[in-house]
Amino acid sequence: RKKVTIQHLHHLRNENLPIAMLTAYDFPSGRACEAHEIDITLVGDSLAQVCLGYDSTMRLTMDEMIHHCRAVARGSKTPFLVADMPFGSFHTSTDDAIRNAIRLMQEGGAEGVKIEGGMEVVDVVHRLTVVGVPVMAHVGLLPQRHIQSSGYRVQGKDARSAMHILESALALEQAGAFAMVLEAVPQDLGRYITQRLRYTPTIGIGAGPGTDGQVLVWDDMLGTWNGHKAKFVRRFGDVRAEIERGVTGYVQAVRSRTFPARDKESYDMPSEEWQKFT
Ligand code: KIV
Ligand code: NA
Repeated sequence: RKKVTIQHLHHLRNENLPIAMLTAYDFPSGRACEAHEIDITLVGDSLAQVCLGYDSTMRLTMDEMIHHCRAVARGSKTPFLVADMPFGSFHTSTDDAIRNAIRLMQEGGAEGVKIEGGMEVVDVVHRLTVVGVPVMAHVGLLPQRHIQSSGYRVQGKDARSAMHILESALALEQAGAFAMVLEAVPQDLGRYITQRLRYTPTIGIGAGPGTDGQVLVWDDMLGTWNGHKAKFVRRFGDVRAEIERGVTGYVQAVRSRTFPARDKESYDMPSEEWQKFT
């Protein structure tokens, strides 16, 4: 398989071929994206919740993101590799944003960065693009604003806020975003924004079937835990059941001394050596 480039992603959009994006947080999940032909691997800041046990993505630091991004990069080579810019890494100044984006590329091995936000990040998206940092935009539900918005809610349900999201999307395309995540918006709005953009591929999560691609969080998609399941999540696997089967089986086998077996799972010394020894 050939390396996925931005040009290839634009080709997929033009040919109306769906883009499959998936998050990854470590070497094994990165390698699975590589092996199973994911187009874009995203080291999402959902890392904070699904891997590190924080209650919010707002707690994730640049150093934590880089540490995980490096591991993903070792496993995911062919997909286009994007890293989320953590909360606080791009709002203090444009210079800080550029410095942090470059760290994600040089230290983390990312090929592009994703930035959450609407009109307020248009400037920084433009500056990063000028410098040569590919930026994926992210509009609609913004998890890095969950405190300010009092939770995680569908965005753009009324005409006014739908217009606001559309205007942000158009401005982010003008600013140079190479792709755009649409999170938790009504499906009609997801399709409409996709049609109104000139060339930027849209990647939906809870944005309906009318976007150019889809993204899901690894753990939601595989069912590795049993926390809250958003309406837009489909479980394509039941890893949690497999983990339960494996761990309970192991504990039970150790406690009942049926593991390890003497023949198949243990080593032997030649008997004459054992006699010399004892
Ligand atoms: O952090 C993340 O996993 C994301 C995707 C859900 C788009 O931003
Ligand atoms: Na994110």
